[in-house]
Amino acid sequence: MTEVLLSPLVGTILDGLKSWSLKELELAGSLKTEVASLESTLTTIQAVLQDAEEKQWKSEAIKNWLGKLKQAAYDLEAVLEDFNTEAQSRSLHTDARSQVTTFFSLRNPLLFRLDMARKFKNVREKLDAIAGEKSKFHLREGVGEAEIERNEDRQTSSLVKELEVLGRADEKEKIVSMLLCNVNHHDDLSVYAICGMGGLGKTTIAQFVFNDENVAKVFDLRGWVCVSDDFDIKRLTKAIVESFGGNSCGIQELDTLQRCLAEKLVGKQFLLVLDDVWNEYHDKWDRLKQALQCGRKGSTVIVTTRLEKVALMMATTPFYRLGCLSDDDSWSLFKQRAFGMGMNGSNANLETIGRQIVQRCGGVPLAIKAIGSILRFRSQESEWLRVKDSEIWDLEDEGSRILAVLRLSYDHLPPHMRQCFSFCSIFPKDSVMTKDELMGLWMANGFIPSRGALDLHDMGCEIFSELTWRSFFQEIKEDVDGTVTCKMHDLIHDLATSIMGQECCVIEANEGSQIPKAARHLFVYNYSSSPLKNVMDFTTLQPLQSLILHGYDINVSNLSRYISKQKYLKVLILVLIVAILLLKVRNT
Ligand SMILES: Nc1ncnc2c1ncn2[C@@H]1O[C@H](COP(=O)(O)OP(=O)(O)OP(=O)(O)O)[C@@H](O)[C@H]1O
Ligand SMILES: [Mg+2]
Repeated sequence: MTEVLLSPLVGTILDGLKSWSLKELELAGSLKTEVASLESTLTTIQAVLQDAEEKQWKSEAIKNWLGKLKQAAYDLEAVLEDFNTEAQSRSLHTDARSQVTTFFSLRNPLLFRLDMARKFKNVREKLDAIAGEKSKFHLREGVGEAEIERNEDRQTSSLVKELEVLGRADEKEKIVSMLLCNVNHHDDLSVYAICGMGGLGKTTIAQFVFNDENVAKVFDLRGWVCVSDDFDIKRLTKAIVESFGGNSCGIQELDTLQRCLAEKLVGKQFLLVLDDVWNEYHDKWDRLKQALQCGRKGSTVIVTTRLEKVALMMATTPFYRLGCLSDDDSWSLFKQRAFGMGMNGSNANLETIGRQIVQRCGGVPLAIKAIGSILRFRSQESEWLRVKDSEIWDLEDEGSRILAVLRLSYDHLPPHMRQCFSFCSIFPKDSVMTKDELMGLWMANGFIPSRGALDLHDMGCEIFSELTWRSFFQEIKEDVDGTVTCKMHDLIHDLATSIMGQECCVIEANEGSQIPKAARHLFVYNYSSSPLKNVMDFTTLQPLQSLILHGYDINVSNLSRYISKQKYLKVLILVLIVAILLLKVRNT
């Protein structure tokens, strides 16, 4: 399930190669040639990266290839860091005395350039060899819009089995009364949007409302269209005509289709559900909306979407943010799935474990239903415990189905936002994250690309807002002094972890804790107030890019020894008892 995300790193390195510090070192001779060849190799690699990153899900060979490339890119990044450090320290050591003493050391510009040229050559040869393998994969060049596969499983319809829907009565009443009240008051086409993260039940509640008796009575026509990623006007107009009982067979011209739709709608009050909308382009929506404006006043469109941006763009009233299922309804849904209709309440232990499992699903019906189904035919406590303690991606087919549904939102992100989002798995579940801290971490790690006049801070704000609008962050709060905080739903955290794998790692600080070799970003915590003896030994830790220590009593003497040797550590955050210290260590 993990993903090798390489394009943001290659982008940053290419920017680095062109940066001022290299120019400062007056590139000459073999060094100049090496840097030019590196730029060319990386540009060739970058051209096919998007295609490779998309195809890695279907090809283990491509994933391995990307993994090797990423390792080589990290090696190159380290060489560049050395280079930058030298540039900085040279600007500090310009007095005559130090020039004499450095003549015989690597500070000697000549020796240094030779050493660097050798390092660049080594890493370039490695990159060239790996890049040479790309011809095996027939990768396409270009960086167009990410292609998202149309998934027939995501097709929805207006039918719903009422018996199977739990709770949501209040939510339904609220939306129904809004619709009925609007029918007599508004002249124009009204658009309601229901918004929330994947699997929360937006489609289900729209079905519920669509089939409500009073709603059915009020509207002359009701139609349901599953939009998904493809907001093609012709396809949608055809689908809408057909959903209202018309016949669009054989009509190819948009104009004819729109006339056909107008004939159907004129003088009628209609309700149209546009389910699962992802389109963020105003003009596309405006064109469709225009064609829908020929119905009688009070006609209404209900939109379901994961994207707040889409809800804001389409809705004519404040949009409806769907909440999680209540604890009681979550438990009832789980029971219905895991035990069938006749719950076998005889096993109190299974119930206790079941309630803990439901807790993990955080009120998301998609997950509750899927995990309940896994346990349907299992009656052994050990099996239930295994499911409770498993990571979601280890849960047979159903677990990966949950993540696949949630992943869709991730697939719609551009590469740098994918990187910023998945990095958030460095925080433990249920952490309160501060917007400024997150942006600081993204910046220090080089995850925010520079874009024209926008500075990194502005770009960081934009990324934070985008991730919030796309339901990756929730519980956004702003306190009196303007500090903005947010959280991630547990399942969204699972998604981030499943993508980052062991590159981002959260561990409890105790003697037995093993830090995976692949870890580059590490969060170590100790929330027990009793002092720990012999906590983790930092002296054997591999080089890291980010290190966050949180809590009480973390063995700081080993830590300082470790940190003093770290050349490539970009972020160090210590939150020890009450002291907060944020340092950006840059090769000092
Ligand atoms: N209140 C509920 N009671 C029982 N099952 C529910 C309820 N709400 C949703 N479900 C079930 O959970 C699953 C996900 O629901 P749904 O498809 O409505 O979510 P969604 O928010 O539309 O997701 P997506 O963002 O992927 O479109 C479905 O299998 C649905 O039947
Ligand atoms: Mg849906």
